[in-house]
Amino acid sequence: MRPLVIAAAAAVALSLVPSAAEAQSGPEQAAQPLVVAHRGASGTRPEHTFASYDRAIEMGADYIEQDLQVTSDGVLVVMHDGTLNRTTRGAAENCTGAVNTKTLAQIKTCSAGQWFGPEWVDQKVPTLEAVFQRYGKTVNYYIETKQPDPADHMEEKLLALMDEYGLREPAASRWQVLIQSFSADSLKTVHAMDARLPLIFLGNPTVANIPSYADYAVGIGPSFGASINAAWVNTAHANCLDVHPYTINTAANMNAALAAGVDGMFTNFSDVLIGILGPRKATGLQGALDAKNSHDACLARTPAGGVGGTVPATLSLTLGAPASFGAFTPGVAKDYTASTTANVISSAGDAALTTSDPGHLMSGTFALPEPLVVELSKSAWTAPVANDPVTIAFKQHIGAGDALRTGTYAKTLTLTLSTTTP
Ligand code: G3P
Ligand code: CA
Repeated sequence: MRPLVIAAAAAVALSLVPSAAEAQSGPEQAAQPLVVAHRGASGTRPEHTFASYDRAIEMGADYIEQDLQVTSDGVLVVMHDGTLNRTTRGAAENCTGAVNTKTLAQIKTCSAGQWFGPEWVDQKVPTLEAVFQRYGKTVNYYIETKQPDPADHMEEKLLALMDEYGLREPAASRWQVLIQSFSADSLKTVHAMDARLPLIFLGNPTVANIPSYADYAVGIGPSFGASINAAWVNTAHANCLDVHPYTINTAANMNAALAAGVDGMFTNFSDVLIGILGPRKATGLQGALDAKNSHDACLARTPAGGVGGTVPATLSLTLGAPASFGAFTPGVAKDYTASTTANVISSAGDAALTTSDPGHLMSGTFALPEPLVVELSKSAWTAPVANDPVTIAFKQHIGAGDALRTGTYAKTLTLTLSTTTP
């Protein structure tokens, strides 16, 4: 807090310290942060296996994530790496090398869990179709077109499977499927096929470049780091883009991301994030729908025609010129008065101005017998306000019998401008 001395002359001096509470806000405000199970519950289960997805769903994650690869015979399988080496075990001719050089039959011979622990040896590399067959419309999917090659027709295959399992319409109408990619070209391919589908661009664009993604995406998934701060998130929100950073696995980073205002995040530990979020109003299908509705509301508020603007959250309190009671006369009963002003600017729905307990004016350890009285000409606002002047009136009573010690008297007060509806 920045102390401002508003009177320091003569016999009495007063000090006032302004403080302000600020909160993040913007045109886009998700209903509540979404929990995206990164490769399932991959902190405690082998990634991208049914065991991993089952556990994530059990934990209460809102989305289970799938990374897509294409086999040599054109089948979409769920695997992060472009090669089988890290996460599969089995005959080398089937279970090492590039995924797109193996047939589905070959990949089916591999264990996708043994590398993680012997108890998971029976886990297999799932096809996307098998994932849809297992979970149907009971969960939300967050599907990544991984290293898409136009020759693979990954996007066409994905939409065809979504059609087959009745997931295209709920993807469009309630974000049951979010499609993500580091490849803008891949997302644009999907957008060209069906502009209603919700797309998330993966990457860390500069603040200046963020608006361009709103042309085809509903959000951005950046790698979480120092650059993903409240200003970055606010810019995304100002463009009606949700922000889902990856991959956040510690409570400290989850709290930092939430403080920056993100709309959800990828994590290997959904249970940790859910513990931090506490009781949630809506989860799963309803959580996804709430996020979709919030996004739509943002678009509805944003002017058409390519121009818009934002108002940053503002609470500003500026104190006026110094005030002084002048000299007190011992032995004479009198009420001394002094005043200064404060200037209030607030973009909040409401605001309140309060002062700390004035107590007594002090000179060293000597206190005036009568308390200092402070009155504000205005202390509550029910709407935004700009440059509203407030008179801060001080009153000090001196009694005829008060024994006054020579000296300069002062008191430090704290004025606080706050809001409950930033
Ligand atoms: O999709 C978000 C995040 O998963 C991107 O990183 O490498 O884990 O797919 P990666
Ligand atoms: Ca991914």
